[in-house]
Amino acid sequence: MMDDDAIARMCLALNEEDPGDAPVRREQVLQTLNVLRKEPARGKAVVAEIDGQVVGYALLISFWSNELGGEVCVVDELYVAPTHRRRGIGTKLLHTLRDGDGLWPERAAAIGLEVTPTNVRARQLFSGLGFTGSNTAMHLARRPTKRGETR
Ligand SMILES: CC(C)(COP(=O)(O)OP(=O)(O)OC[C@H]1O[C@@H](n2cnc3c(N)ncnc32)[C@H](O)[C@@H]1OP(=O)(O)O)[C@@H](O)C(=O)NCCC(=O)NCCS
Repeated sequence: MMDDDAIARMCLALNEEDPGDAPVRREQVLQTLNVLRKEPARGKAVVAEIDGQVVGYALLISFWSNELGGEVCVVDELYVAPTHRRRGIGTKLLHTLRDGDGLWPERAAAIGLEVTPTNVRARQLFSGLGFTGSNTAMHLARRPTKRGETR
């Protein structure tokens, strides 16, 4: 609960810096955190703290994969505050997710993430950590997009 405000602020900053198709509102982030709190099997929000200050977060969403025969943990969002970048915090967050460290009852069969093709730095970071593959995900948005289309 205490971290909800910090996560919401950072999520809005992430969306300004690297906008997706649809703008994200603060209420939406708080709703996501509530859903994860009520239904922990869906995933988790993880924060990185320095001297008691939240400086980064990852939003993890979990699903069962038939193909991989286990739980897949998707890093839906990953953000480190600009003032704290290039100090290894992003890498440490990803190592924590990879190694479990009590995050999951069982080790995940795979860790997935999506990154926009133009986000070169993040892509380099992820491939350096062993992530492979290109972005093949497609979405059919069921709410208005930034371009004002309703589908
Ligand atoms: C992508 C992101 C999460 C990386 O976080 P970070 O904490 O800066 O990541 P790290 O510090 O672990 O690594 C980033 C770089 O710093 C370098 N680095 C790591 N520790 C370092 C240290 N102690 N001193 C100097 N450089 C260091 C890494 O080698 C890496 O170098 P590179 O940019 O040349 O590849 C962060 O830049 C961010 O929030 N970006 C905006 C949101 C985003 O793009 N999210 C990902 C898609 S969802």
